[in-house]
This record gives sequence, C-alpha cells and structure tokens, in this order.
Amino acid sequence: MARDILSARQDFPILDIQVNERPLVYLDNAATTQKPQVVIDTLRDYYTRYNANIHRGNYAIAYEATEAYEKARAKVASYINAEHKHEIIFTRGTTESINLVAYSFGERFVGEGDEIIVTQLEHHSNYVPWKLLCERKKAKFQVVPFDENGDLDLEVYKSLLNEKTRVVAVNHVSNSLGTINPVKEIIQLAHDAGAVVLVDAAQAVQHIEHDVQALDADFYAFSGHKMYGPMGVGVLYGKEKWLDAMPPFLSGGEMISNVTPEKISFNVLPYKFEAGTPNVPGPIGLAAAIDYLQEFDEQELRAYEDTLLNYGIGKLKEIPGLTLYGNPKQRSSILPFNIEGIQHFDLGVLFDARGVAVRTGQHCTQPIMDALKVPGFVRASLALYSNRDDIDALVESIQRAIKMLKGAKKHG
Ligand code: ALA
Repeated sequence: MARDILSARQDFPILDIQVNERPLVYLDNAATTQKPQVVIDTLRDYYTRYNANIHRGNYAIAYEATEAYEKARAKVASYINAEHKHEIIFTRGTTESINLVAYSFGERFVGEGDEIIVTQLEHHSNYVPWKLLCERKKAKFQVVPFDENGDLDLEVYKSLLNEKTRVVAVNHVSNSLGTINPVKEIIQLAHDAGAVVLVDAAQAVQHIEHDVQALDADFYAFSGHKMYGPMGVGVLYGKEKWLDAMPPFLSGGEMISNVTPEKISFNVLPYKFEAGTPNVPGPIGLAAAIDYLQEFDEQELRAYEDTLLNYGIGKLKEIPGLTLYGNPKQRSSILPFNIEGIQHFDLGVLFDARGVAVRTGQHCTQPIMDALKVPGFVRASLALYSNRDDIDALVESIQRAIKMLKGAKKHG
C-alpha cells in the first residue's frame, strides 16, 4: 500500500534543523532537493562496506559495487520506461548529459546550413551547448518564443521546423516559470520533420510523467540531486540507434574495446559513454531515491503537489504589489515572483533571516528575464515534503519584508 504523502517530512533529517534560530523552511527544491534518510544511509553503507572500483576488480567488494551500480542502471531504465538498460548513461548531471549529446550527436549529424531549435524557456544548460554547436558547425540557431502567459508559441515552432532541422532541445518543465511544455506534441512535430528531440527533464522527472517511450523522446536528461538522490550523478537516456551511431564524448579507460597505435575500437553501450572511474555511489544512491519515491502513489503525489502549488498561487495573488510571473496552461512546482519596489536579492536576505530558503536572481535563464524585462525574480519551488506551513511561512516573510522595506522608504 502506498504511503501517506504527509508522512514524508519525517524522512528528511535536514527539515528539522534551525536556521537563524528558526525552523528551516526549504523552498529551493528546483535548485536541489533534500535527501531522505534512506539515501543518506545507502551512501554511508556503500562507503562503509563495499567501496571499490567497478567493472575491474576480481574480488568480493568490487563485484558487490559493480552489481549495485548496474542494478541502479536497471532501476533508472525501469523508472523512465527505457526499452533497454544500455540506453541509460550515467553522467555528472543534466548539464553534462546535454553537452554529451550536443558534442557527440552534433559531431556526427550536424553540419553547415543545418538548423537547431531551442526555446526561450530553456535553462542556459539547454541553450548554450546548442548555440556553441551552431557556431562550431555554422548551423542556424532558432529560438521558439513564449507568450504573455509563459506558454511556448507552437505556431512559431511549427513555422521554424523544416527539412534542415536536426535537433529540437526543449525542457519538459521550465525551471524559472514552471511551465509544463507539451513535449509529446513537440516531439511528434519534430519527428514529422525528420529531427530528433532532446528533453531536459531536470524539473519534470520527479514531478510529472516520465515515460520516455510514451513521449517518444530521442534523448532525455535529468539529475539525481533534484529527485532526492545524491549530488554529482545525472542520467542521459538515448535511443539505442542514436547512441550507437554517435562517437564517444569523453575518452580513456573503460570506453574502449581495443587500443593499438594504429586503431582504437570502442566498447559497447553504455560503456562507450562512461570513460574513466565513474561516480559509483551516485547511481546507487539515486536508485535508493527512486525506491523511496515509489513508496508513494505517483498520481496522489502529483495531485498533492498541484494542490499545494495552487494554494501558493492563491496566497501570493492576495499580496498587494506582488507580481506572479506566467500563467501557463499547466504549471509544476514553481512560484516565480517580485514585489514592487523591492529588489529580489533583498527579499532573499530578509527571508533567510526568518529561516526561509528560496532562490533569487536570473535562475540561469537570461532569455526569460530579457523577455519579461526584469533583472531577476524570487523563485519558491516545491517538493513532496513541502506543505501549507511552508507556504504560510513564505507569505508571512513577504509581508514582513514589505512592511520593513516600504516603511523604511517612507521614513527614509
Ligand atoms: N538548475 C537549477 C535551478 O534552476 C540549479 O535552480
């Protein structure tokens, strides 16, 4: 039987700490999520009992580490419904996963005059690698804008697609506005035009659907640390046919099958893309995080997070002088806002004094800030352990900040 979502909080020891003599109110989950005790224990168990390099040693703890690492790959494959477990490449994070595709796929399949489409809603990590690829290959860089609600303009997207389009790179959920993009439709349109699609799922895989075969994604990238797993482990899923056809990204140990001065041949998937000693405990900890997530019913979890998000939106909208950015058709887990007359950075500092942790600034999305014509904003972001008390503490901090800063201005 699935667990009650409200019981999740007790699994995260960090949520019991005090910050500035107040209980931590952690609302920066889009930057990184906290870790449940079971993930912390899994990492400790690895380092305490079976730390060894993998795929190399012929002794007991090396076998155990290798088996746990490969089991983690199978767990990830099943979580995102990949057809084969060798379609799962472990990386350092979403950024490395996207760079891998931009370099390797780009090297083999993108040439002068070709076109790449990204969107104005991308994190820099799904924008800059493609722009740099276009510069290297003299390919055309195209950007799909978003409208006043924060939804992508699909008419512009359709008009940009043509037989020269090689890659479409799009996030499933915007890290800044929380827009849930219609990636299934985007992928289908791209495939009709003969292009492949990379989905940046860093803000999606832990909140909404994550079935790569149902989406028909060619590539799908995400990070362990944003889904209750450890820092420093990421995933790249790629369809076998593309991964097979792509040259390696990094080279060195493990990714080869034969090395002579005349010729080097490469290892099979997924090892062709995992040069050097990997982050062994990372995937093992990520597998523990996936097991943890699966203790809850996924539909219930989504409904819980949506209800909480709507509660937050309602509360924020009641605050005079607050601008909530975007009103997309579908939104996930993100509350982006500014208060008239107050710098976003100052708000962050004042919130911190109350124990409330949010992110302020541009959120690695300068194209979004330029479109909204703002220097930055505050972003509160939710996770499965977030609750109404967190939102109420945020609202109380906003009200205090307004009183303090506006009062100071009046008397200053
Ligand atoms: N990409 C992470 C964020 O949006 C760090 O905050």
